Amino acid sequence: MTPPDITAFFDEATNTVSYLVFDPDTRDAAMIDPVLDYDAASGEVDTASADGMLAAVEARGLRVTLVLETHAHADHLSAASYIKAKTGAAIGIGEHIRDVQKIFRPVFAADDLKTDGSDFDRLFADGERFSIGSLEVEVIHTPGHTPADVSYRIGDALFVGDTLFMPDYGTARADFPGGDARQLYRSIRKLLELPRETRIFLCHDYKAAGREDYAWETTVGAQRDASVHVRDGVSEDDFVAMREARDATLSAPKLLLPSIQVNIRAGRFPFAEANGVRYLKIPVKAKQAVFE
Ligand SMILES: [Fe+2]
Repeated sequence: MTPPDITAFFDEATNTVSYLVFDPDTRDAAMIDPVLDYDAASGEVDTASADGMLAAVEARGLRVTLVLETHAHADHLSAASYIKAKTGAAIGIGEHIRDVQKIFRPVFAADDLKTDGSDFDRLFADGERFSIGSLEVEVIHTPGHTPADVSYRIGDALFVGDTLFMPDYGTARADFPGGDARQLYRSIRKLLELPRETRIFLCHDYKAAGREDYAWETTVGAQRDASVHVRDGVSEDDFVAMREARDATLSAPKLLLPSIQVNIRAGRFPFAEANGVRYLKIPVKAKQAVFE
């Protein structure tokens, strides 16, 4: 198999890395975790990030056949629907997105939301294989950060979503609804069984303390030798204790509420109301009895 051509696109506003992956032989391409720009204060949506990726597609003469989501992100909105509208690409995600839809439908009283995953075109099972041109992609279910996380392996390249961060930063939180630190540890150990030279491509980077530059590519070997959270020798119980203690200190991501509502609909906004405007909801919670 010809190795995939991989280009990363970093969105500094959300610290997200999206990837354009293509088969140099057939020019078929996939976009992994594309970002839709969103200003929470004004509600303004912008497609500059996604358009940057589309410009690269155009310049290289590619055909985008798939938009691949590693999970329903909680920190940025997905441009999947926009990319689909522009290119005709099918949108794929792990089949357990249904569980995530079931969790969040009542949270947002999202009566329009179907919880059968049908907003997505492809629902991938663990171990399933599919292709981008002549590139073979293997789906590895890696729950823990959320129940629906998957990693995509293409040759020696592994796209892990939020399952791992750079070795000096560690791992993603596991405290979202349906998240589980013990499952996250097991998913990570499964990935770290792959050959040491396997290249790992991350979905986020926040620059660990003391590091000057953003980074999003690492290897299985580097994780096993040096990850501050999951290097060889860190036991499951130690990891779970560390992860749960750390998660207890984290606040909600800035774009959590908008992101979830859009991303469980495959990057689609809720339908417009009678006035033609689309709205996102904010569930209000109160510690004291402030409501009449
Ligand atoms: Fe995430």
